[in-house]
Amino acid sequence: MVNVVLGSQWGDEGKGKLVDLLVGKYDIVARCAGGNNAGHTIVVGGVKYDFHMLPSGLVNPGCQNLLGNGVVVHLPSFFAELESLEAKGLTDCRSRLFVSSRAHLVFDFHQITDKLRENELAGRSTDGKNIGTTGKGIGPTYSTKASRSGLRVHHLVNDLPGAWELFETRFRRLVETRKLRYGDFPYDVEAELARYKVLKEQLRPFVVDSVLFMNKAISENKRILVEGANALMLDIDFGTYPYVTSSATAIGGVVTGLGIPPRAIDQVYGVVKAYTTRVGEGPFPSEQLNADGEKLQQIGAEFGVTTGRKRRCGWLDLVVLKYSTMINGYTSLNITKLDVLDTFKEIPVAVAYSINGKKLESFPEDLIALGAVDVEYVTLPGWNEDITSVKTYAELPENAKAYLKYIEDFLGVPVEWVGTGPGRESMLHKEI
Ligand code: GDP
Ligand code: IMO
Ligand code: MG
Repeated sequence: MVNVVLGSQWGDEGKGKLVDLLVGKYDIVARCAGGNNAGHTIVVGGVKYDFHMLPSGLVNPGCQNLLGNGVVVHLPSFFAELESLEAKGLTDCRSRLFVSSRAHLVFDFHQITDKLRENELAGRSTDGKNIGTTGKGIGPTYSTKASRSGLRVHHLVNDLPGAWELFETRFRRLVETRKLRYGDFPYDVEAELARYKVLKEQLRPFVVDSVLFMNKAISENKRILVEGANALMLDIDFGTYPYVTSSATAIGGVVTGLGIPPRAIDQVYGVVKAYTTRVGEGPFPSEQLNADGEKLQQIGAEFGVTTGRKRRCGWLDLVVLKYSTMINGYTSLNITKLDVLDTFKEIPVAVAYSINGKKLESFPEDLIALGAVDVEYVTLPGWNEDITSVKTYAELPENAKAYLKYIEDFLGVPVEWVGTGPGRESMLHKEI
């Protein structure tokens, strides 16, 4: 059985927390896309764990964890994250962590060129802005993957005769092509190769054929939870292109990023923040560049986990969520951070976009259109009550329940969980 947790907006909806809540029922947690551009925060017994590349399932001692072929792995960060989790007291992580032999490697030169590309875009006078990437080398790594010049885990750990020499040759050639594109940048290729000679031995025990790993687990009826990273509106195809990440963050990425058949997937849990946030540049029609936006940012403590940047904030956008639901086919929803809305007297929700008075049928693909949309809001009454100590769904204030019902009715998807605070215990379950 494979169930999936996916972000429905622009990221940071609280996917990590839902994974942590559910993980006790699963044997395996797998990541299928992205890399350490993600930042999933879990708070257990007052201890805060930040996961970037590694699956949040590591918090549960009984759970195995996999980085699938769709993930991109920066090895120094992989080991640094592992060590920091161990330092926080997570035990036995190494024997429960597996990395796909087909995953692509992120090198420091990918990270350097990520920043060079951002600077280049920022200085462009005609059309624009930089993307506001995390600078983790994600875009450049998926670029070398797509242009068929990337290096994968198996290229590194292969110990057949000539494999290391081939790795070195391909690595040197890659750096050369990057320098042709971006001009010379400081990078000690020999020191890097020496570092990877050590890293490959450290990595070897983690490496598996993940297609076999996953499909064996499915045939043995293991319970598998896929931890989505980034989110639908950052998907390379469906997001606000080009202000997106470079991977398939939607449901399709689960199939291509793990090598499992679509029919293996059962439930798809959509994680929806009760309002909307976005980190980095790009269109955000329900953004509130005013006191409401600032209040959401402050009460919600909206700072990026990976880069520390302030998250942009705005009202819940049901146009986005309808589009997101169409693509991902959520079977139920987790509405998170409902407590952040406790003190708002009225809560506007975006329900339609129009351009020159003409209503749009769905979320537009075009940046010029997105810049021209008028957003129609429905204003729902707030509940003006602290819900952080509410223990059951039934005890929620009537207006909070009405807010959730409005979302359910609009999207045609039931709400199954409601987040009322950052801690593991602050999650209400609703029978569906
Ligand atoms: P992810 O990337 O989707 O896993 O989400 P992040 O961890 O980046 O951001 C979500 C933030 O909200 C984290 O700091 C969580 O601890 C916090 N959080 C999650 N659920 C709730 C909730 O229901 N209420 C509040 N107040 N905070 C929450
Ligand atoms: P989680 O899993 C929020 C955003 C970046 C930038 C754009 C491209 O925590 O929800 P990239 O470095 O991927 O090339 O940056 O995507 N971004 C995220 N924003 N949460 C994330 O992950 C994100 N992953 C990427 O801010 O705008
Ligand atoms: Mg995050």
